[in-house]
Order: sequence, then structure tokens, then C-alpha cells
Amino acid sequence: MIVKSLEHLKQISKKISQKLKNGDCVFLIGEIGVGKTTLTRHLINNIQSQKGLKETEVLSPTFNLLYEYEIKDLKIMHYDLYRIKKTEELEHLGIFSENEKTIKIVEWPDLIKTPLTNKLEVHLEYVKNDNERKMNIHGLGKWKNFENEI
Ligand SMILES: Nc1ncnc2c1ncn2[C@@H]1O[C@H](COP(=O)(O)OP(=O)(O)O)[C@@H](O)[C@H]1O
Ligand SMILES: [Mg+2]
Repeated sequence: MIVKSLEHLKQISKKISQKLKNGDCVFLIGEIGVGKTTLTRHLINNIQSQKGLKETEVLSPTFNLLYEYEIKDLKIMHYDLYRIKKTEELEHLGIFSENEKTIKIVEWPDLIKTPLTNKLEVHLEYVKNDNERKMNIHGLGKWKNFENEI
């Protein structure tokens, strides 16, 4: 599908955030500047306002690798794995090793090979128009066929 604008991205993000629960994984795939952090910001802010809380700043975890958000009963882990080049470093980070049920939103998830039950993959691509993006969605588990809902 074509995302027509930032406003359209926000509308799409609402459909995703309504369904997000602890245990879900969202993989965001696409080049630098394509909109992965922008989509994450919407997801986190939507959930904050759905839960009646104030929307906070959502920064890119480019250098920190991870920022965490506790939103009432939900815990969101926002990763940016761009700087991780080896599987060993990923293991060190322990991203899927803890049993803790959280929502994981991951930019640059390429090195992650862990089989995951409820995973939503969002692929973003540039198109000719600067304000538009191509979005492809592939879901597993509860996210299977989610592309037909948006
Ligand atoms: N339709 C759109 N969807 C997503 N981002 C868009 C769109 N149109 C313009 N942009 C802009 O593209 C940039 C995306 O940056 P960012 O989300 O940081 O990318 P990434 O995290 O993928 O590197 C932002 O400046 C955003 O405002
Ligand atoms: Mg980013």
C-alpha cells in the first residue's frame, strides 16, 4: 500500500497500536530516513493517549540501542540495532532471552533469527514523492492477515 502522508501514517499507526499487547514484536525494515522512528513515535504516543497518559518525547535509540516506556500495564522496548554488526553482540544484549513479556519494536532487526509467535513486520520504502512511502506488511500469529485490516 502507499502511505500518502505523515497524517496517513498516523492513521495506520492507530490500527496497529490498538492491537499491541505485551508479547508482541514489531520489526521495522527499511532504509535510513524512511520513517521507522516516526512510526514508532506514533505507536508509543497513541498507546500513551489510549491509556489516558501524557504523550512523551520518543527519541531514536541510535546510540543507546534501547529506550523503554512503561505505559500502565504495557512495557515497550524500542530498539535500534543499526550499530550491531555481529550476532554475538545481539546475544550480549539479551533482547529475547528474558522471559519478561514486553512489546518489542525493533528498527534494523536483520540479525534477529529468534522464532517469534506474534510478529508484525513492517517494510517501508521510498517512492518518487517525498511525502509518500510504500508499506508492506507481513504478520505472524495474531498478526496474520493484519494487512487486510488496514
Ligand atoms: N509518509 C511518511 N512516512 C514516514 N516518514 C515520512 C513521511 N513523509 C515524510 N516523512 C519524514 O521522513 C523522516 C523519517 O525519519 P525517521 O522516522 O527518523 O526514519 P528512520 O527511523 O527510518 O531512519 C521524518 O523526517 C518524517 O517526517
Ligand atoms: Mg530510526
